[in-house]
Parts: sequence; structure tokens; C-alpha cells
Amino acid sequence: MADHGDGAGALTSLIGRRAETARIAGLLSGARLVTLTGVGGGGKTRLALRVASDVAGSFPDGVHVAELADPRDPELLATSVLGTLDVARPGRPGADATAALVARLGERRVLLVLDNCEHLVDACARLADTLLRCAPRAACAGDEPAAAQDRGRAGLSGGAAARAGGG
Ligand SMILES: Nc1ncnc2c1ncn2[C@@H]1O[C@H](COP(=O)(O)OP(=O)(O)OP(=O)(O)O)[C@@H](O)[C@H]1O
Ligand SMILES: [Mg+2]
Repeated sequence: MADHGDGAGALTSLIGRRAETARIAGLLSGARLVTLTGVGGGGKTRLALRVASDVAGSFPDGVHVAELADPRDPELLATSVLGTLDVARPGRPGADATAALVARLGERRVLLVLDNCEHLVDACARLADTLLRCAPRAACAGDEPAAAQDRGRAGLSGGAAARAGGG
């Protein structure tokens, strides 16, 4: 897993988040989809990466972090996630990439972190739903703006939700 700032070699420590980290790791042991929600800049990414590092031992086939702030097109989402798995991208983006992702995940016990996907939350929800239905041992962690939760959503597609910063 790439070091995004809180793994070995991090230059700063994650302050005051030990209980929260343990709580989210606990959620991931019971749910295959966990959504972190909270205000922008509130530490969702930092927390997600810390949890991913802590639970890596439970995912022998790997922890993969897909940084999704860049793709603006939902069709490119699966292609971006595929890129984190070191799989050659299919010629056409979209459905083919999702199929390639499902084929790659298969029975593998992996954790996918869908990071900074707030602007593509519906597409991420659909992708996570497909992956979790088709890859029975995979798990996903992602983030979602607090506003979406307040409108009544319960995580990316009905998984466990934790509010970064408490709640
Ligand atoms: N508990 C913490 N201890 C130390 N630094 C923190 C903590 N939480 C957040 N930070 C720092 O605050 C900044 C923003 O954190 P981060 O990118 O994780 O927030 P975010 O909620 O994912 O933001 P966005 O909504 O933009 O995706 C980063 O520089 C991060 O290192
Ligand atoms: Mg973030």
C-alpha cells in the first residue's frame, strides 16, 4: 500500500484518533462496506489510510488505495480502481473495466479504499455494490460528505457508516 502520510515513514502522527481508528477497524471486521463521512478537510482520508494500514493483516491479498479526486467521469471510475491493482486497463473504459475488476478480485481477500470519491458518490456506490456482490471476500471503505448522510443515505450502499470526528 502506498504511504499517503500515516504509515511507516509518516512525518506527522495522527492526533487523538486512536479510539476512532479502532472503532472503524471493528466495523470493517463485521461489514464489507464502511463509509467514512465528515466535513471537508476533517481527516477522513487520513483516518481511512490509518485504518487500512491497521487492518492490512486481515486482507492477505492486499490493501489497495484508489485516489479518486481526479476522475470527473463516472465511466472512468472502475478504470482508476483497476489501475491500483496493477491490471492492464481494457481498451474501452466503463463496463469493461468493471468486468475486469470483478475478474481480478474473484475470491481474493482484498480491501479497496475508495478515497476522495465525494464528487462521484453515486457511481462509487454502484461500483462498490457490484464489486461486493461479485467478489465475495472483498471489502470496500470509502468516504462521503456529511450532507449526503444528513439527507438520509446510510453509507455508500447501505454498509456501515462512521462519522470522522465522532458520531
Ligand atoms: N487527527 C489528525 N492528526 C493530524 N493531522 C490530521 C488529523 N486529521 C487530519 N489531519 C491533517 O489534516 C489535513 C486534511 O486531512 P484529510 O485529507 O484526511 O481530510 P479529508 O476529510 O479527507 O479532506 P477532504 O474532504 O478534502 O477529502 C491533512 O493535512 C491531514 O494530514
Ligand atoms: Mg479526503
